[in-house]
Amino acid sequence: MAVYDLILRRRTIRRFRQDPVPLNLLLQMVNAARLAPSGANLQPLEYVVVTDEALLPQVFAATRWAAYLGEEGTPKEGERPRAYIVVLINRRVRPNGGYHDCGAAIENMILVALEAGFGTCWIGSLDKNALRSTLDIPDDYEIDSVLAVGAPAERAVVEPMTDSVRYYRDEEGVHHVPKRAFREVCHLNCFGTHYDGPEP
Ligand SMILES: Cc1cc2nc3c(=O)[nH]c(=O)nc-3n(C[C@H](O)[C@H](O)[C@H](O)COP(=O)(O)O)c2cc1C
Repeated sequence: MAVYDLILRRRTIRRFRQDPVPLNLLLQMVNAARLAPSGANLQPLEYVVVTDEALLPQVFAATRWAAYLGEEGTPKEGERPRAYIVVLINRRVRPNGGYHDCGAAIENMILVALEAGFGTCWIGSLDKNALRSTLDIPDDYEIDSVLAVGAPAERAVVEPMTDSVRYYRDEEGVHHVPKRAFREVCHLNCFGTHYDGPEP
């Protein structure tokens, strides 16, 4: 599928089937992250791929899900991710910043997973101390995010945003994500001049 179509289709997934995620896919995701744009080409990022059955529950325990949905948002036993990729910033390579690098790398990984039929949830809300000790991450690495990966077991759709940014789940369990209108966010040549044609 073309990258543009993949990007339009991509939604955060928080309920997963329990099929394993092929290790080779996870490695390809890390390779796509490795080749992402990097400020000053410093490449401070490293990745911990977690697939070990004994570690999965411990990593899960350090993750926080869908704050707007309350308890409903957290995947239950049998719906949890089957793999995680932990994104680290090596503070010896880059003493501060590096967060833009993380964004570019993580989006690359998300799109590679999606093309292979797998869903992801980018998780920034973490118990980083617990994660650090579970995975033996040295102190000179900052934990940025965790990307949860698995085969999708929910449907998530975009809808035009009206008055709230809050995503929600309907009675059928479909996850709805309000997005600001194209016209609202795109200025043409000068700020305040909006494109009035159809969405591209
Ligand atoms: C930097 C960042 C941190 C995020 N942290 C979390 C998180 O801790 N838990 C979670 O469930 N989702 C998290 N998300 C996912 C967002 O909630 C999600 O992207 C947003 O609701 C829009 O939905 P969409 O990804 O389907 O477009 C995070 C996304 C980003 C970009």
